[in-house]
Amino acid sequence: MKLFIDTANLDEIVKTDNMGIICGVTTNPTLLSREGHNPREMAAKIADRVDGPVSYEAVLLDAEGMVKEGKEIAAMAPNMVVKVPMTTEGLKAIKRLAELGIKTNATLIFNENQALLAARAGATYVSIFIGRLVDRGVDAIGITRNIRMIFDTNDMDTEIIAASIRNTEQVTQCAIAGAHIATVPYRVLMEMVEHPLTTAGIEKFMEDWKKVSDK
Ligand code: E4P
Repeated sequence: MKLFIDTANLDEIVKTDNMGIICGVTTNPTLLSREGHNPREMAAKIADRVDGPVSYEAVLLDAEGMVKEGKEIAAMAPNMVVKVPMTTEGLKAIKRLAELGIKTNATLIFNENQALLAARAGATYVSIFIGRLVDRGVDAIGITRNIRMIFDTNDMDTEIIAASIRNTEQVTQCAIAGAHIATVPYRVLMEMVEHPLTTAGIEKFMEDWKKVSDK
């Protein structure tokens, strides 16, 4: 499973990119609003900094508007991906953008049928919102496993992004369930680095090293 970072914060993107752990970025209007800058300028900076796909959400809700916006987003940088919400208008926009060779990320996917429809319309990615489903007591990991099975059975190229990740355990479970990608907040990525036995192991090695280092 590949890892994207779910943020619009350039500092977090640079830090994780320097560690070699991320190969893409997902943003959304909420994440961009937190940064308080012009959203398109911000996205252009992000797309310039990373090699991989950068998802940026279309905010007009009619297909024609989304296609227009999608063309503008795609023109910003070669690695831009247009995020399109899962609606009937969104499906029309995904189809049209796919015909134009523009990559899309169908967002706000909550079940197997929505994922199937978005993939059939031509979405490059479908983003299933794990945390928001789990918050409501739904088996989001089971749904992810089913979507992977549906895509594989039907030879569909659309990649599954496990989004709305709240903790490290969800990352592991999404990888086991067959998500192609997890888009993970900075805090959770940093928690994935750590283990108490790693910390204790380094301390003990350093302590023992001091005993012989000046000999
Ligand atoms: C997906 O691409 C979204 O940016 C994101 O994962 C939403 O997560 P949230 O439920 O934490 O807002």
